[in-house]
Amino acid sequence: MSGELSPIDKAKFVAAKRATRFVETGMRVGLGTGSTAAWLLRCLGERVRDEGLRIKGVPTSSRTAEMARDVGIDVISLDEAKWLDITIDGADEFDANLNLIKGGGGAHLQEKIVATASDQMIVIADGSKQVETLGAFPLPLEIIPFGWQTTKMLVEETLIGMDVLGRNSSLRMNGQAPFVTDEGNHILDLHLNRIGNARQLSLVLNQIPGVVENGLFIDICDAVVIGYGDGRTEVRDISSGSVEQEKIDILEGDNLFDGIDV
Ligand code: 5RP
Repeated sequence: MSGELSPIDKAKFVAAKRATRFVETGMRVGLGTGSTAAWLLRCLGERVRDEGLRIKGVPTSSRTAEMARDVGIDVISLDEAKWLDITIDGADEFDANLNLIKGGGGAHLQEKIVATASDQMIVIADGSKQVETLGAFPLPLEIIPFGWQTTKMLVEETLIGMDVLGRNSSLRMNGQAPFVTDEGNHILDLHLNRIGNARQLSLVLNQIPGVVENGLFIDICDAVVIGYGDGRTEVRDISSGSVEQEKIDILEGDNLFDGIDV
């Protein structure tokens, strides 16, 4: 990527840049996965390089681990860190209660483990990720490869009794072959259109044999940083109910992805 950033990239960039202010020297930081999280890594890398910020990063995917090292962040495993001060990650959808759908990048299993093991989880997102009701984005379900077609059938049968508008599911593909997660599993995308009771659905789906984890994050996220293409940001904190708005300048040199694949 080079030259002028698109409005969507500006939105992701300013959300990420604003979120780096939650990070202080000495923190153990969960590092999310995806294109918005990639902006975060670059912004944190810049602080490591320019300000001497010292953090330990726990990545939520092999992709993130590689990129974090590339930008100069010290990477440790969750087993080494055990517990984290903060996790910052993207999301596919968030609602007014900061419940989320994640897993568009196929990393929600590690993302959920890391976020749950953190004092604070902050989501960074452009405004398009905000929804009234979760479910327009297909809900990712990590399933083990063994007997996956039976698991798919069981999941679709289970959905008949749930408060959802659609019940079809599709195995996520990577070209001609099934997509394989970092844990060696597959992803079933559930086309639900609208999820009436996300908490109940999350519990029920995780009871089905063969299902490892679903992409619903219920009561895990503490705050969201929303970015807009004109540089505006909004931080919404669910526990304090506070909303902070701020405009972030996008300078020429802020195209931190020049020459780097994300
Ligand atoms: C990966 C995720 C991502 O956070 C989610 O898909 C958002 O990605 P992006 O920032 O590229 O829109 O959950 O598993």
